[in-house]
Amino acid sequence: MSDILKDKVVLVTGAASGIGRAIAISAARHGAKAVIVSDVTETPHEGGTQTTAEIEALGVLTRFQRTDVTQHAEVDALVDAAAEFGGVDVMVCNAGITLREDGPDVAESDYRRLMAVNLDGVLFGAQAAARQMKARGKPGSIVLMASMGGIAGAGMTVAYSTSKGGVVLMAKALADALGPDGIRVNAICPGTIDTHLLRTNPGIAAASEGFRQRTPLRRLGKPSEIGDAVAWLGSDMSSYVTGIALLVDGGLLSVI
Ligand SMILES: NC(=O)c1ccc[n+]([C@@H]2O[C@H](COP(=O)([O-])OP(=O)(O)OC[C@H]3O[C@@H](n4cnc5c(N)ncnc54)[C@H](O)[C@@H]3O)[C@@H](O)[C@H]2O)c1
Repeated sequence: MSDILKDKVVLVTGAASGIGRAIAISAARHGAKAVIVSDVTETPHEGGTQTTAEIEALGVLTRFQRTDVTQHAEVDALVDAAAEFGGVDVMVCNAGITLREDGPDVAESDYRRLMAVNLDGVLFGAQAAARQMKARGKPGSIVLMASMGGIAGAGMTVAYSTSKGGVVLMAKALADALGPDGIRVNAICPGTIDTHLLRTNPGIAAASEGFRQRTPLRRLGKPSEIGDAVAWLGSDMSSYVTGIALLVDGGLLSVI
């Protein structure tokens, strides 16, 4: 499709399904040298093996590594594994969850479980990647998965919005901290994207039809459309872009 990621090693968490899987495959389509596919389980929905098989079919080096992003040591080991290909150039901290029961009365255990994946897991990934980039003296691009729910609030997703708003500010703070080393950090904020997460969460599934009707482009987004945006943020085409929260939402948050 393009070679904007030529010679780059891309690592994606939560990449065995949905948006993460699409990001990993897009990276291969955009010319990455190697794509490391990681997830907490190899077969959540579509499957890690299927993802690596598609990437291999594109002639790109790949491997699956099981990693729970809430476990600091596992995330460090994941990033260390990129050394096999020369080290990570593009780190995509994508893994994230929603809750079946979210909102103002969210249960403490659910809240902590969600924060552990959506916030802690994202920070651990960014930290490990930045450390490796600095040690190699080869700055790269770190992309953090936020959401339109991190820019505009929704009463039914109080915990989720809180976590994604945190990711947006995490990107800005890390961009400030790591910019002097040449490392770029950006957040990406998808709108309503047609994935398993959307179809299996009844509250979000019900809301999505309303979102679709209000979206200027009048359709849900495709996972590959997030993959292409991440490829751009990971590439040198965006070399002066850091600290942004890039909305990829069909225009939904631009209208009233
Ligand atoms: N689908 C949407 O409309 C939408 C919109 C905005 C943002 N997002 C975000 O995009 C990301 C991907 O969502 P998706 O829609 O592809 O959902 P998904 O459920 O299909 O994929 C999420 C992946 O994360 C993995 N994961 C969960 N916990 C993990 C952990 N502890 N360690 C490692 N991996 C773990 C899951 O196994 C799964 O493969 C999430 O961060 C989500 O919040 C999705």
